Amino acid sequence: MTKVITYGTYDLLHKGHIRLLERAKQLGDFLIVGVTADCFDRSRGKINVQQSLMERIEAIRATGLADQIIVEEYEGQKIDDIKKYDVDIFTVGSDWVGKFDYLNEFCKVVYLDRTQGISSSDIRSEFRNIRIGVIGESPIINKFIKECGYVNGVSIAGICSEDTSKLDLNALPLPLITNRIDKLLPCSDAIYVISRPEKHFGIIKEAFDFGKHVLCESPVTLKISDYYTLKAIADEKGLVLMDGVKTAYSTAFERLVLLVKGGIIGDVISIDSTCTSMEKFALYGEQEFKYLWNSITEWGPTALLPVFDILGTNYTDCHIITKLLAPSSDFDLFTKILLIYPHAVASVKIGQGVKSEGDLIISGTNGYVYVPAPWWKTDYFEVRYENSTQNRRFFYQLDGEGIRYEILSFVEQIESKIKNARISNNISSQTIKLIEDFYSKKFIEI
Ligand code: CTP
Repeated sequence: MTKVITYGTYDLLHKGHIRLLERAKQLGDFLIVGVTADCFDRSRGKINVQQSLMERIEAIRATGLADQIIVEEYEGQKIDDIKKYDVDIFTVGSDWVGKFDYLNEFCKVVYLDRTQGISSSDIRSEFRNIRIGVIGESPIINKFIKECGYVNGVSIAGICSEDTSKLDLNALPLPLITNRIDKLLPCSDAIYVISRPEKHFGIIKEAFDFGKHVLCESPVTLKISDYYTLKAIADEKGLVLMDGVKTAYSTAFERLVLLVKGGIIGDVISIDSTCTSMEKFALYGEQEFKYLWNSITEWGPTALLPVFDILGTNYTDCHIITKLLAPSSDFDLFTKILLIYPHAVASVKIGQGVKSEGDLIISGTNGYVYVPAPWWKTDYFEVRYENSTQNRRFFYQLDGEGIRYEILSFVEQIESKIKNARISNNISSQTIKLIEDFYSKKFIEI
């Protein structure tokens, strides 16, 4: 009996898949189909898959072509499978020519012609066509536009900016470059905002008037009452208002929070979160200083995220200690926030004009989690115990600093597919409350 094996994601099963399976089956007497697990796809950068593993397996089963279906869960599994199932022929489509020649050592490798003109990516893009208009001046826009390219069915409608000097406008063909929001909004389905924080409220309100969904770099507003106003309009109109903090969408960060909540280090007693950078401070000259976010707006939402996510927002006492650029200035070079909870304490250190080790330490009654700098771009963390032989290390692939996952989450919310916003309204509003406290000068100045 000749055993044949083939692998794929088989999302939204199409005729290209079926033709491949038919020809694979004809190569032998028994066909094994390996279907990729969701985690495995994500780890190899395939983030757009729409169907769950079970749905994809069911679709393969329904073709009646597979004699056996297995799940592909890890890099290198193909060699294991070929040995385990005593496979004679490994086959995949010609888009992989050469990639699997190394398997010749274990069985025969056959590349079958790929069916032209169809792919899961194309089908996903047909289903979805979301044009995002970008508003703001920050150089992060360059990354954002690049990352949109990784999300099927998303395109850039154009840019609205007061100052384009930090933007790489030649990198991509942009249908529209303007400084008027009312020009950009009609040709966008949704907008991404990274303007000056004090302008967010007005921009978002205007976008809502045009019926557009909004992804806004956190903080969404500088006043909690403004946030509630926007949230009420969004709810009334059925629009998405999503808080943008890319770290929230990194798999490592998501898993870390789940592990800690699951008790891996016992009860959490202390969280120390530090985020500093001097890069942007150096980038902006005196003239353009107004476009530079101060430390509390630039880093506050990110640094507070693990604290609010793990300890909640019901702290009983708060102290903000800050060093301002000048006595009358709103620009904090450095801010430290101490949050005291009934059974825990958190310290958040942020700075645009002070440098420190940007790590995250979560201390518990049984052990602690250590995330090395820069923890906000985290793909790796360690859980450490008194007995170091019990220490565990975790690694999860992070592509595009989390921005592409954030964009995907935004468009999935627009499509009302899943409720997957990683930042709750409560976290958004309580972050804004602390920022409002800062602007109300409820701080100790050093
Ligand atoms: N395949 C094919 N012809 C196509 C599409 C896929 O022969 N038009 C083959 C692939 O070469 C692979 C198998 O079907 O052997 C599973 O491919 P998969 O990656 O799941 O499908 P794609 O449509 O290529 O998916 P995507 O667009 O997400 O990359």
